[in-house]
Amino acid sequence: MTGTHPTHIPVLCKSVLDHLQVRPRGVYVDCTVGPGGHSREILKRLGAGRLVVLDLDEDALRLAARRLAPSKAKLSLHRENFRNLPRLLRRLRIRRIDGCLADVGVSSLQLDMAERGFSFLKEGPLDMRMDRAQTVTAASLVNDSPPERLVEILRTYGEVTGAARVVAALVEERHRKRFETTTELAAVVERVKGWPRGTRLHPATQVFQALRIEVNQELKNLEAFLSGVVDFLRPGGRLVVLAFHSLEDRLVKRSFARESGKCICFSPRDLCGCPRRRRVRVLTRRPVRPSGQEIRANPRARSAKLRAVERLNASSEGCGAAGSRTGRGRKAGGFRLGDGAREANRG
Ligand SMILES: C[S@@+](CC[C@H](N)C(=O)[O-])C[C@H]1O[C@@H](n2cnc3c(N)ncnc32)[C@H](O)[C@@H]1O
Repeated sequence: MTGTHPTHIPVLCKSVLDHLQVRPRGVYVDCTVGPGGHSREILKRLGAGRLVVLDLDEDALRLAARRLAPSKAKLSLHRENFRNLPRLLRRLRIRRIDGCLADVGVSSLQLDMAERGFSFLKEGPLDMRMDRAQTVTAASLVNDSPPERLVEILRTYGEVTGAARVVAALVEERHRKRFETTTELAAVVERVKGWPRGTRLHPATQVFQALRIEVNQELKNLEAFLSGVVDFLRPGGRLVVLAFHSLEDRLVKRSFARESGKCICFSPRDLCGCPRRRRVRVLTRRPVRPSGQEIRANPRARSAKLRAVERLNASSEGCGAAGSRTGRGRKAGGFRLGDGAREANRG
């Protein structure tokens, strides 16, 4: 690996920085440093401030350490899951932060390295772990999960049509020989599903997305992170999240709605269990999307959605507007699993 990563371009970088509004003496957290693209820009704007960066992936942290040094600001790198951010901040004795960025999902660094097993286009071990210290891999899931569980994973996290047929073929194949490589898996999926007419999306795209989400527990981590991070934002502090499929974006949207005092359960008012505590102001009524120009320059940005909030002063915090709802109805606020699969993930 070289000190730079030529194919990596940080997604929606200008918008991330516009929303973070980095204060030179502030304390910032980049929860997903990856190859360090966004962090590098944050550091340029920090004077005597502090940047804490996290990633699950040791390769990413090593690359980021090289790309981000030297820096005037105080920088620390941690191999940590962002769901554990509260614990990390307490360990670092940081009580309040001025801003936090989470650019969730897989990085181009991970996708481009065949040996990480994220891409069906490159032959590699069927791995897909961001954190290589964990034991569950895509291969262990495909080879050892009960068929019903596999069907559930493909439907829930990939909205795979014909999931039962795909799994039946996988089970038949694994009796003959355990799956070891990405291309073995992609070939079976392609054989079962074929190329649907009118699409250029590889038939294995959604299967790979679903397995990756399950291997890395991506939605559970994001949900846990979102439920803890606002406590640490100082008044005026900003949280910016970049999501790459609508399963993630829905979690972000709902969490921001809840933190801004809205009802997200859609029960009758007397049964509503939402806290209705307004702790943040939503800065993005609609998600920010990359321009056509950005997508042309960086096709992996195409499904990105950026949302951001600002923590309110204690004096402005309070109960949300009675009866306010997220979106225009149940569907707009509800968590409809499966939408994510329609959007190609980065890769
Ligand atoms: C899209 S990349 C980040 C790219 C980075 N913003 C940049 O511009 O260079 C996402 C990174 O988040 C990391 N990641 C994903 N889930 C994580 C989690 N739960 N905790 C910490 N890091 C995570 C991945 O390993 C990957 O390196």
